[in-house]
Amino acid sequence: MQPLLEMRNLQVGFATELGPVPVVRGVDLQIGRGEIVGLVGESGSGKSVTCMAAMGLLDDNARLQGEIRWQGKRLATQNDKAMSVLRGSELAMIFQDPMSTLNPVQTIGKQLYEAICINHPERMSRRKLQTRALDLLRDVGVPAPEQRLKAYPHQLSGGLNQRVVIAMMLAGNPSLLIADEPTTALDVTVQAQIIELLQELRSKRGMSIILVTHDLGVVAETCDRVVVMYCGEIVEHGPVSKVFSNPRHPYTHGLLASLPRIDSSDTNLEPIPGVVPHPDQLSEGCAFAPRCPHAAACCYSGSPMMQCSDSEHLFACFSPFPVNAESRQAHAS
Ligand SMILES: Nc1ncnc2c1ncn2[C@@H]1O[C@H](COP(=O)(O)OP(=O)(O)O)[C@@H](O)[C@H]1O
Ligand SMILES: [Mg+2]
Repeated sequence: MQPLLEMRNLQVGFATELGPVPVVRGVDLQIGRGEIVGLVGESGSGKSVTCMAAMGLLDDNARLQGEIRWQGKRLATQNDKAMSVLRGSELAMIFQDPMSTLNPVQTIGKQLYEAICINHPERMSRRKLQTRALDLLRDVGVPAPEQRLKAYPHQLSGGLNQRVVIAMMLAGNPSLLIADEPTTALDVTVQAQIIELLQELRSKRGMSIILVTHDLGVVAETCDRVVVMYCGEIVEHGPVSKVFSNPRHPYTHGLLASLPRIDSSDTNLEPIPGVVPHPDQLSEGCAFAPRCPHAAACCYSGSPMMQCSDSEHLFACFSPFPVNAESRQAHAS
């Protein structure tokens, strides 16, 4: 089946005072209908820039190469008008901080009415608008929606504001929602509620979701597939069950090893040594090699190609973890 969103060899560089900085370096990614895909990787891996490229919201100093296709149609070549119609309707994005989307000096109601009007060019009566806004607020689980319409964002909690933003996005009935760390700024219980809401939207509306998150536990619970990014490249991707039970790339292994587990008494968490290098400081070879405990000489000279662990599970590494559990243990120690 044709993917909803497809990126082919996507490259994004930024023009800076120090010269061009490559930030996304050849990303190939497909998002199918109704799937939830987790996008993970440490800060600075290029996750947000990849998402912003899909939304056509890159900063002015960005240079984009490669292809982005929406239902088979090439996006990057379309004019801005076509992109802006697609955005906010078929394709919507929410961010870590709901206040980056909400206007602090306008009521929730006014902002919701605007979002509805943008997506319904025919004139709607005030009453109809209000009914639609209340429906949207109920859809995203906002209690006492009538009162919220009159409220300003500062009168609502962070979790409720995030729900309002999701309601605004739903006004366009999007097929794909990109959620860039939507719960990072919220406390743990509210985080779980927002994640539950996203799952509900997928099952009720068949919406696809790209969920950018630091939380591999959330990915394990929520996502069908996981995509692991490091220094602007995808290093491993596949079904969550396969990638998490048998990570082939040492970076994925490192991310999982640094995660506390409820089902284990082993409190020996091993953070990945070192830090993500800045995009303008990448040396030749595999970008992860300087931090990789398994790096061989070849890792410092050539870039590994994507290879199959099986038809759905792919990784790019010259020195991968073996499939067999015992050999994997030996490889890790
Ligand atoms: N407008 C810009 N100009 C220059 N560099 C940028 C710009 N926007 C983002 N970057 C750089 O791109 C890299 C990747 O950023 P980002 O996609 O935000 O990472 P992530 O979301 O994975 O934490 C970072 O090093 C960041 O500094
Ligand atoms: Mg980010």
